[in-house]
This record gives sequence, structure tokens and C-alpha cells, in this order.
Amino acid sequence: MAEALGDWRRSHYCGFLRAEHIGQEVTLMGWVHRRRDHGGVIFIDLRDREGIVQIAFDPNRNPEAHKQAHCLRSEYVIAIQGLVEHRPEGTVNLKLPTGEVEISAYRVKVLNEAKTPPFTLEDDDEVSEDIRLRYRYLDLRRLKQQQIFNLRHKTCQLVRRYLDGRGFLEIETPMLTKSTPEGARDYLVPSRVNQGQFYALPQSPQLFKQLLMVAGSDKYFQIVKCFRDEDLRADRQPEFTQIDIELSFIDQADIFELIETMLAGLWSEIKGVNIATPFPRMGHQEAMQRFGSDKPDTRFGLELVDLSEILAKSEFRVFSQALSSGGSIKGICVPGGGSFSRRELDELTTQALGYGARGLVWIKLTREGSFASPIEKFLGEPSSQAMAKALAAKPGDLMLAVADRAPVVCQVLGQLRLDLAKRLNLVDEADDNFLWITDFPLLEYDAESKRYQACHHPFTAPYDEDIALLDKQPERVRAKAYDLVLNGSEIGWGSIRIHQRDVQMKMFHALGISPEEAQQKFGFLLEAFEYGAPPHGGIALGLDRLVMILTNAGSIREVIAFPKTQRAVCPLTNAPSEIDQKQLNELKLRITK
Ligand code: AMO
Repeated sequence: MAEALGDWRRSHYCGFLRAEHIGQEVTLMGWVHRRRDHGGVIFIDLRDREGIVQIAFDPNRNPEAHKQAHCLRSEYVIAIQGLVEHRPEGTVNLKLPTGEVEISAYRVKVLNEAKTPPFTLEDDDEVSEDIRLRYRYLDLRRLKQQQIFNLRHKTCQLVRRYLDGRGFLEIETPMLTKSTPEGARDYLVPSRVNQGQFYALPQSPQLFKQLLMVAGSDKYFQIVKCFRDEDLRADRQPEFTQIDIELSFIDQADIFELIETMLAGLWSEIKGVNIATPFPRMGHQEAMQRFGSDKPDTRFGLELVDLSEILAKSEFRVFSQALSSGGSIKGICVPGGGSFSRRELDELTTQALGYGARGLVWIKLTREGSFASPIEKFLGEPSSQAMAKALAAKPGDLMLAVADRAPVVCQVLGQLRLDLAKRLNLVDEADDNFLWITDFPLLEYDAESKRYQACHHPFTAPYDEDIALLDKQPERVRAKAYDLVLNGSEIGWGSIRIHQRDVQMKMFHALGISPEEAQQKFGFLLEAFEYGAPPHGGIALGLDRLVMILTNAGSIREVIAFPKTQRAVCPLTNAPSEIDQKQLNELKLRITK
């Protein structure tokens, strides 16, 4: 039944036909979205990348085409020729962009048949993600998905045009390379030619973009794949795309301006929204204190308040113990939370335990102005009063408090804050809040390995005036690093880099990396620094996360054409998979189970 294209040529995309085309003869090609046959005229909704248009097969006007239309089924690939007409009175569908017209078909050609798809390709059909990813090529046919990839394409084009206009060169860097420490595990590729040796897929082009600065490229960018073997989440994929940027002879302010202008342009072109620049800035410490997070969602309040001081004399054991062991107590006030049921409060407590708390203190302020809490008798009225004052709680509100080590307190309340905002509908989804987080610490102490680790990566420059502290008080050294947060999601990270060999060696030393190890892993960078490295810095934006926010997608997998599942598997191709013995032999690899 299926025929070749022959000399048929498409004249229009289905989705582009409008009243202005009435009277024109058109040739359309696409997929049968739906067929309605009520005994007389047969209607086909024909779908292509750009949309759907209604085709009418009238037995009286075009009996031959009508006869053929009987055989058409969902997802058949067809070509039709016909006349664009105004839809009959009363059948105009203004919900559809093409809803004013229909095509009276006089010829039809089946280009390919299709099995009944495992799910209908309606936009709002609920289908399990596993099935959708297994048949991703069908899933992507849906118009909703087409729109996402259209927008992703447009975003890339706008970024390219913008950066080109600002004098950036798009330069590719290798995929088969050496490990770059971005904090995840590497994906490794065995070398056949150099047996027993492995390439790493880049976690980012960090070192190459810095080498390009030494090479005098001055302004580099790349829309580039990065690979990280890490736990996957709703906003994390093992391979993802960065808009990667590096420039020479600049400081932090230049990067902020560059990125703010780029994003303002994107929002204006794509969403038709003007976003205010410059973006607000907040120090890392302030973000942790007020929001319990280094990527705070600032679209709503529910801020954390430190209660350590006002509860310093509390005899409630949970509080006194936390404080005496160097921890802290923080709380948040949930407006109207006084009406939460016992079950809801138990749920909140379970959530808090899930985030690492050992318990959650809750105190309701009743409408009558008294306190209701299971611990009220241990806490006592004066402490509750003091808490209510510090938290500015009003009758009908709920106070929550966590006492623990400071990082646990921040983690728990920071997460609960997000959950509560969702539950109480406090977030205006139309509002986009950009925020720069600055003044990160350069290093953090890892109790497990008993070593300092770079908060970002080891190539981030310390504040000039803090360099002397690197040997003595590493935890006090501030980094010239910045994080771009949008609605509580980290969409970009960057820093001014170290460009002198001696400072880089000091940094490696602070990280417990011996000179020999530094030489072995990063000797090429250290050497490059000896041949005239300019001061430089950069940033990388997560393209997938950006598109996710621009399209309001619920998961990063929605905005990647062929994503992996949470278990890092591709259900379509079944990757990863075993390889055959011949390949293993060639690579001199043996699998030990
Ligand atoms: P970083 O590691 O912070 O910085 O990555 C930059 C941005 O990339 C996005 N991102 C991810 N998106 C999806 N899935 C992932 N697994 C994932 N990991 C990161 C985030 C993040 O902000 N070389 C440095 C940048 C620099 O210093 O210039 C880097 O890669 O949006």
C-alpha cells in the first residue's frame, strides 16, 4: 500500500494554514492524528511538526479520494492534495490555530502505514514515562513536545547570535580527554590503541577553556555536552548541555553584565517579558542564614530566623543539648499554619526526618492567642512568647523549629520551606526571580576524608587579600565565585580563575594534593601558566535547566530529546548494554562479576 513520494512536493506545513490561504491548492504531508467517519464525509486531522489541520474527504466531490480515506488509520504517513476552504458555518474551531479552514482533498497517497501506537499522541494523555521513553520517537511527535524542542532550538540560536555579536568565538573542545574535577565520577572510555589506558568524558570543558585563554582566544563559548556519573534527580542528567563561557582581562562585574544582558534578551524574545537588570546579589552566608540554601527561591518569604540566642536559657533538652554541643536553633513561621491537622503536622515531621532532622518542634498560635504544642509544657510560655516575637507569628500561625548542627538545621528548614510554599501555593509561577549568590567560601572541610575540598573546583581564584590565609586558615578564604539562581534552581556557576602557577600550587597544597600528584594530573595546566596566562574567568549555564524553566517542564527529561531514566538507562536503545567478547578482547578488558 505504501507508495514512494514520486513527484509530489509539500507546499505548506499543516500547522501554518490560515484563512489567508483559502482558495489555494496545497500539498500537505504528515501523520494521521485522528480520523472521524460518520458515514458521509470522512475527516482526517493531519499533523506535522507545526500543527494540525482538518482534511475533508467528501464522497460526492472526490469519490476516489474518499474511498482511499477509508483505509487511513492513526499515524499513517500520508500526502494529500486539495483546496483550502473556509470551514462550513458553525464548525469553525477557534481553539485550533488552523481552525478557520479545512482542506477539501482530491488526491491522497499513503507514504507509509503504521501499527497502532502504544499510546495516543494527544498532548494531555497520561502515559507512563517508561513507555514514553521506550517509544520516544512517537512521544516527540506530540505537539507539546515539538514546541519544547522548537523553543530549545530558538534559545540556542539566540545565545549563539548574542555571543557572536559580543565578539565570542565558538570553539570545540575534546570529548575524549582527561578527568576534570567537577565533583562527580567520570565516565571512562577504554583506549584500544593504548591498552590499559582510559579517556574520561569531560565533566565540563573547564581546563580547555582556560587553556584557550592562555592561547589568546580572549572570548570563548561553546554549547557543549558534559558527562557526570552522579545520582540523578529531576534536574540532573548524566549527560547534559552547558552554555560554556570564558573571557580574558575581565572581572566579576563584566560576567554579570554579559549574562544579565543575554538572559534579558532571551526572556524578551522567548517569553515576551522584560526582566529587570542588574539582578539582585546576595552573599552566600546571608543566603544560608535566611533561606537555609545556597540556591534560595526568593519568590516567597517563609524565611529562617535564628532562635539560638533567645532560647539560650531554655531548659527544653532538645534545644539546650543542641546549643551546648555547638549547634543552632532556627525557626520559620507558617502563616495560617495554625489550621494544619495533626496528620498534616505528622507528615511535616516525617518530611523533616527525611531531610536529616532528629525531630521537628511545632507550636501553633491559636486564634485565642494561646500556644498549642506537644512540647508546650517542656518549653514554657516565656520561650514560646519569645519565639513568636522573633518569628513575628500571629494568631492562627504555625511556628516550626529545628535544633541541630547548623548545616542540618539549614538543610531541613530550607527544604521544608520549599515544601510548605508548594503546599500553601505561595509561589507565583509567572514570576521569575534571578539572583546572584556571591562570596562563597573557597574551601570546605570534609570530615570523612579529613581534608579540605574545593567548594567549586580547584581553579577558582581566592580573594587577593585572602591568599595569605590559604596556609593558615583555609576555611576563611573567600572565593571569587558566583552562582546564578533562578526560582531556586542553580542555572549557572562560574568564577574568576587562578592564573598564576604559584597560587595554583598553593591551592593544590590546601586541598592536600601533593606536588607530584598536581604535576601528574594538571602538569599541562601548570606549565601553560608559565607561558603568559592572562587573568581570566568564566561561567557555565545549564542549558537544560534554563529550557526547563522557560517551558515550565516538570523534569529535565522533558527538554532532552533522548534522555536517560533516573537509573541512567535509555529505554529506547537499551543503553548501557553488555559488549561482545571480541570487543573486550580488543580492549584487553575482562569483566569480573
Ligand atoms: P557546574 O558544575 O556548576 O560548573 O555546572 C554549571 C551548570 O551546569 C548545570 N549542571 C547540570 N545540569 C544537568 N544535569 C547535571 N548533572 C548538571 N550538572 C551541572 C547547572 C550548573 O549550574 N566548569 C564549571 C563552570 C565554570 O566554572 O565556568 C562547571 O561545570 O545548571
